[in-house]
Amino acid sequence: MQLDPDPAEWRALATSVVDYLTGVLRDLPDAPASSFDGVDAVVGDPEIRRPPPETGRPLAELLQVLDRAAGVGLNPSTPGYLAFIPGSGLVSAALAGLIGDVLNRYTGLAFPAPALVALEADLLRWLAGLFDLPATAGGLFTSGGSLATFSALVAARCDRLPPDFLNGTLYVTDQAHLSVIKAARLAGFPAAAVRVVPDDGAQRMDVAALQALVDGDRRAGRAPFSVVANAGTTNTGAIDPLQEILRVCRARGLWAHADGAYGGLFRIARGGDRLLPGLGGFDSLTLDPHKCLFLPYGTGALLMKDPEALRRAHATSASYLQDVTAGESLGITDYSPELSRDFRGIRVWLPFMLHGVAAFRDQLSEKLALTRWAYDELAREPLFEMFDEPQLSVVALAAKPPAGHALDANAFGAEVLKRVNARKRVFLSSTAIGGRYLIRICIVSFRTHADRVREAVEGLVAEARALATEG
Ligand SMILES: Cc1ncc(COP(=O)(O)O)c(C=O)c1O
Repeated sequence: MQLDPDPAEWRALATSVVDYLTGVLRDLPDAPASSFDGVDAVVGDPEIRRPPPETGRPLAELLQVLDRAAGVGLNPSTPGYLAFIPGSGLVSAALAGLIGDVLNRYTGLAFPAPALVALEADLLRWLAGLFDLPATAGGLFTSGGSLATFSALVAARCDRLPPDFLNGTLYVTDQAHLSVIKAARLAGFPAAAVRVVPDDGAQRMDVAALQALVDGDRRAGRAPFSVVANAGTTNTGAIDPLQEILRVCRARGLWAHADGAYGGLFRIARGGDRLLPGLGGFDSLTLDPHKCLFLPYGTGALLMKDPEALRRAHATSASYLQDVTAGESLGITDYSPELSRDFRGIRVWLPFMLHGVAAFRDQLSEKLALTRWAYDELAREPLFEMFDEPQLSVVALAAKPPAGHALDANAFGAEVLKRVNARKRVFLSSTAIGGRYLIRICIVSFRTHADRVREAVEGLVAEARALATEG
């Protein structure tokens, strides 16, 4: 196959891909949420591991290879995938990605694609408006939440600390996502700079403890500069007291960042403003369209109250770019660690434009209602002990085996999870808080509806009851 197919060849190629994917999508409702059957044989399959040939192979053969490789592991696109934070794979975003890649315009700078870059910037401003950030706010589409938080912390560091910043400290709870800790490390801070604030007993930051820690650190000669609040923790969906944290930040001149990679976009759901109040006052906010806007993996976002702070942290220039900058702002690269990048804003733009915002509002509202339903149902089962009330779309529960059972609560919970997942209709994950093993159900996919959540709940109850009789 030549590198530049003629229109007929291109159409045939694209049609083959679309036909293959149409089959994949048709089978999704009944596809297993996880499958590790024969995994070693598949991973070791010489067809899959084959190096590139000197001359090309037919597309049909290659699609078969990919299909076999994708057939083992977890399938976040299925309605039963309720583990970690699902990223469900909206196909309109996949098509947007195809359009963006075929157009292949250079959006790292404004000059080569001024209208596309403006489209992306407008979309970010519109998103910022949804969160009540000021009209001057802006942002950046990133590859994910981790990179958004990294850029935010670098901006905060540059804005609030001197160039010799190693005395700086930032404040999180022990529920902060690992990406926050990683971002602090990559931004140059030693591990001791990340100060862990106690929680209020329900995985939310204790604001009095935050104040005491910040003030104590100042007295000890440290330089507190930022608080990273959770706008929905990964473990249980807990939301820190955002408005109170904001007040502490304002009173003490600290940069307020909210990690809304999981929870932030629930702001779009009905009642989302009451669920996540105060985000509009934050200096920066991490979002992840590849979670709660259902996009395929690879699109995160950073919203900034003052995009200039991001620019001061990232902007630089070079003579070989003089033709495309002409003394003006470079464009997206001024605000980002990246120069060349994909036109990833299109993956958010096309779905919003095509489906309308109400489609996302309905979906997110449905997820919140399903979560409440699952919590109430599971709370009736004496073999389970519910963890905190859900604030977003995570239900967390511990097992409570009957007295005298051979398995302790943690082992009992792990066995129930294993058995439910072995049914392959749903895939759930676990976590641990305070030494307790917790089963999590996280409802995020636009393909997950009441029938599958009911299956998850009934599966958990049935497996727990069966295991209880075995002990
Ligand atoms: C709360 C939270 N923050 C940040 C991240 C990191 O996002 P990403 O995986 O897109 O880098 C996640 C991912 O699950 C998350 O749940």
